[in-house]
Amino acid sequence: MKLIFATSNQHKLQEVKSVAAADLEIVSLKDIGFVGELPETHETIEENSLEKAEYLSKKYNTACFAEDTGLIIDSINGEPGVYSARYAGENASFEDNVNKVLSKMEGLEDRTARFKTVITYYSQGNYVQFTGITEGQITRERMGNSGFGYDPIFIPSGSAKTYAEMTLDEKNAFSHRKKSFDLFANHLKLISV
Ligand code: IMP
Repeated sequence: MKLIFATSNQHKLQEVKSVAAADLEIVSLKDIGFVGELPETHETIEENSLEKAEYLSKKYNTACFAEDTGLIIDSINGEPGVYSARYAGENASFEDNVNKVLSKMEGLEDRTARFKTVITYYSQGNYVQFTGITEGQITRERMGNSGFGYDPIFIPSGSAKTYAEMTLDEKNAFSHRKKSFDLFANHLKLISV
């Protein structure tokens, strides 16, 4: 089975490919020649995930899936949340965003946070969503160089390492993205029998 993943983020693509079954061919926006940005105009992760999947499915008249992810930190009112990609401004780098979180949390004792991924599968005008959540803690400084985004400051519950100190397989053992993708993959199995 061939599936279009509506993302330009190479890190997300690599992670999803690493957990997809061998008989599932994941094709990216780059592979289908899509250039530009997908719309992300809403205030919830669920709506943005749906918006991206619906936009691409209608544009190419094909089934596809999209995902939207946010880091939700309790002590700063759930920030950066749906604004995770542009927390420190429109063209902010991963480093800028991490710096903003660390400075906003300076001196705060409560470090609890969670990553939430919502995958939307959009096909023939209908959609289904799959949510993966991983609880954890925000560190006081960056640790590790792997991964992307907020990986260097997030320690998932049950681990002593940040995501950025893990190999891809280790991250997958905890990952919010893998949890949502596993639910999606099970759904695909159910509808293909
Ligand atoms: P979006 O889902 O493309 O809107 O992006 C959300 C932002 O959250 C990304 O730009 C990253 O900064 C961050 N992010 C998403 N997934 C992860 C992850 O697995 N680890 C660390 N940061 C992530």
